[in-house]
Amino acid sequence: MTKPPIKGASIAHPREGDRLFAPSAARNADAITTLLTTLAPPTGIALEIASGTGQHIVQFAREMPSITWQPTEADEGRLASIASYQTEANLPNLAAPQLLDATTPGWSENHAPKDLIFLANLLHLISTPSAKTLISEAAKTLAPNGQFVIYGPFMRNGKLTSPGDAQFHKSLTDQDPDIGYKDTADIIATAQTVGLAHVQTNDLPANNLALRFRKAS
Ligand SMILES: C[S@@+](CC[C@H](N)C(=O)[O-])C[C@H]1O[C@@H](n2cnc3c(N)ncnc32)[C@H](O)[C@@H]1O
Repeated sequence: MTKPPIKGASIAHPREGDRLFAPSAARNADAITTLLTTLAPPTGIALEIASGTGQHIVQFAREMPSITWQPTEADEGRLASIASYQTEANLPNLAAPQLLDATTPGWSENHAPKDLIFLANLLHLISTPSAKTLISEAAKTLAPNGQFVIYGPFMRNGKLTSPGDAQFHKSLTDQDPDIGYKDTADIIATAQTVGLAHVQTNDLPANNLALRFRKAS
């Protein structure tokens, strides 16, 4: 049976056409874009997992025009929103969104190698086994020397590091004990088992982190 959406995990309001607007995505878009511009390859193909409303990837495509950006999403309503942003932006380097449940084993087989994969704000909404599948499939989808960047809220050394994070984690586990914040050490260890070296962890606003990984060349 399909689980109901996680409450409080992603609030998005209707805008013109099929477009949705998530205030949280608008708040963190500049910080994430700035980070990605410092690490993205000069050219290549980038995949976004869980593109949400589409607000982020439109900005990435606009500000990193020599990279081709492929949005993906598991929710069909959000695919329509991404497509609407894509049509409005009319950027040659922004591909049409594709349906992707990134927790399904084997999805990498249907995706050509990518130079960069970006994921924001999903790991805390899925179970640990699902997170492991997602990371393993992302690793298989990366081209040699490709990078995987995972942004979001995390536990650090088993600790929730702000009252807001503790409250959000509890609200998630109250709804579903299988989900909630993941620990940075566990995610780094999982990535290493599938051939991804941890390059750096960046602090971003609102107590979020970006974990950066690279596949061997
Ligand atoms: C909190 S939102 C984050 C959206 C966007 N990345 C952002 O940061 O604004 C989580 C997104 O993950 C998507 N999602 C949930 N389960 C997924 C899955 N198994 N595979 C891919 N996307 C998924 C949801 O539809 C939702 O758009």
